[in-house]
Amino acid sequence: PPIPGAMSVLLPEKLSDEGISLLSARFNVVKKLDLTPEQLLSEIPHYDAIIIRSGTKMTRQLIEAAPRLKVIGRAGVGVDNIDISTATERGVLVVNAPTGNCVAAAEHTIALLCAATRHISPADKTIKNGGWDRSKYVGVSLVDKTLGVVGLGRIGREVAKRARGLGMHVIASDPFTSEEAAAAIGVTLAPFEQVLAKSDFLTLHIPLIPSTKDMINADAIAKMKHGARIINAARGGVVNETALLEALDSGKIAGAALDCFEFEPPFKYPDSVSAKLVQHPAVLATPHLGASTREAQLDVAVEIATAVRDSLDGDMVATM
Ligand code: MLT
Repeated sequence: PPIPGAMSVLLPEKLSDEGISLLSARFNVVKKLDLTPEQLLSEIPHYDAIIIRSGTKMTRQLIEAAPRLKVIGRAGVGVDNIDISTATERGVLVVNAPTGNCVAAAEHTIALLCAATRHISPADKTIKNGGWDRSKYVGVSLVDKTLGVVGLGRIGREVAKRARGLGMHVIASDPFTSEEAAAAIGVTLAPFEQVLAKSDFLTLHIPLIPSTKDMINADAIAKMKHGARIINAARGGVVNETALLEALDSGKIAGAALDCFEFEPPFKYPDSVSAKLVQHPAVLATPHLGASTREAQLDVAVEIATAVRDSLDGDMVATM
């Protein structure tokens, strides 16, 4: 039953029960999954807080339609789906869950790396269809290859440690990490251009912000080794998808493993380059699953529920 006079929190996307019970002790928590953007627009005026994942876009229009809104909680790391300047203008606090899913994202990156280099997905399809095609699926080895990590933050560091365990050389570019901190996990820091030039595999672990939009564009790809591979479990927009598609067609880039796309879900945008990439034979694609482990969703739910509760209480919240 609703708590009389309590503030209301809207959940338009899934959140683990542990997070929900943390909030529902004090607030009226209303779960309404699969709302259309129009339905969300007519719902939002009734809420003091909203908790979203990557499936909801908190646009200017939506924030301006929410006079009671005090907090937007992002159950994840990236806040690129939130119009932060409008939120700030309107005094709406934006909080995220910056740690809970970092290991999950790193594990998914390693899974993509291994699966792409050993043709796991097409080989599985073949055998299920009665095939036994061994010569078609000869892979490439990871040991002694160079993995370039763009962005050595919480996720990039976890990827680097795991890649070292696979016997890879790891180089990384990151404006905020010292050589000593990188060396402590067996990583050599290098300027971005050098990382591009030396990597057999390039993996991206950067947020989507104006300075990283299209960071891997045609110029950057031109600096890479012929036949290098790209893994992107960060955001679609950090790779220029047109440039990537051209490089895959020409063979300059031998393969790409992609967990995120400029247009998600790509099938809803059939004319987009995102949709073409998904269908490309040299692409291994997953539907934004980086954060999707049971453990990560539990940790993120508790992390974001705590941050939203504290924000509604008016406490200081340290996030991002
Ligand atoms: C993130 O930024 O943490 C991810 O996009 C999480 C998610 O899947 O929503």
